[in-house]
Amino acid sequence: MPSAATSIRVPSFAKINLDLRVLERRADGYHELRTIFQTVNLHDLLEVTFERARRTQIELAASIEIPNNLVLGAARAVLDHLRLNARITFRLTKRIPMGAGLGGGSSNAAAVLLALPALAGRPLGGRELASLAGQLGSDVPFFLHGGTAIGVGRGTELYPLPDLSAVSGLLVASGIHVSTAEAYKALNRAPAETAAAGLQIVTNALTTQSESPILGEFQALAWALRAARIPDLAFRNDFEEVVFEQHPALGRMLSKLRRLGASPARMTGSGSAVFGLFASREEARMASLKFPVSTAFPFLFVPRSRYESSWRRALGPAFEHSVFAAASGRSQSRH
Ligand code: C5P
Repeated sequence: MPSAATSIRVPSFAKINLDLRVLERRADGYHELRTIFQTVNLHDLLEVTFERARRTQIELAASIEIPNNLVLGAARAVLDHLRLNARITFRLTKRIPMGAGLGGGSSNAAAVLLALPALAGRPLGGRELASLAGQLGSDVPFFLHGGTAIGVGRGTELYPLPDLSAVSGLLVASGIHVSTAEAYKALNRAPAETAAAGLQIVTNALTTQSESPILGEFQALAWALRAARIPDLAFRNDFEEVVFEQHPALGRMLSKLRRLGASPARMTGSGSAVFGLFASREEARMASLKFPVSTAFPFLFVPRSRYESSWRRALGPAFEHSVFAAASGRSQSRH
């Protein structure tokens, strides 16, 4: 049992949904999705101090008050799973706007799932982590990987896409709060049984999923996705219509991003943040000057290779106990 406390500090990156299509409402109450997730370099900072102990004690100090914080739940889930007692202190410096569709809370939770097993020297496999992550929230499993990925099902079934690097953009987070559950309700999607019976409302009377134009378009998009082609691609976000109806200011922000040269410009998740992609960092920076300073965040895509290297740097020697090392066959048991 290591006696000394170990501390690490890791960036917890935000995500955007480059594309988000909501299909039917499932029997479990969740919606069937197709989405393309992308990590961006806007990030919170999470400091973790870990020490094995006889009794578990978990503390969190955050720079601002965080409703429905997932950090503590994630820590308890890991300790329970590993049957481990530990004294853990988290310090969280929030920079990612909350309730904005940027996945900040999910990213923080995934960071805890990645950090604790490595710091404890008790590696958890990818499938175990994915299962814990999925219980914490639909967006959490994506942050175990980062980069560019396709999300299927609830958004927890993930497939990697090739890294898209050096793409610049601008996020505008106005502070408007959109409830995710309410946004899904407002879509008023047909239940799965109706869809399966061939009365598919979303895709207009199609017989099988593979023939659906929505899924056909999504597949075409995934195949065409390359940094060089991004401005020509037809991204969409099914939440825009219902959310903009409630908050017309968000639609106006999207139009403004387009006028400033963004291509594409879309909402992320169920909102309320909107983003635009630009041809260069300088263009994104120039566009940011046209929005109130506290609402505009220029960003770069974070490819999976960089996501992993930020963990390598943060964990130091403990990296060999991380899921990243296990996934690439680099983990060597010393026991
Ligand atoms: O999984 P998570 O806690 O992030 O989901 C929040 C809410 O969003 C769920 O309770 C559900 O109402 C809705 N949701 C959904 N379909 C998904 C993901 C989320 O209906 N695929």
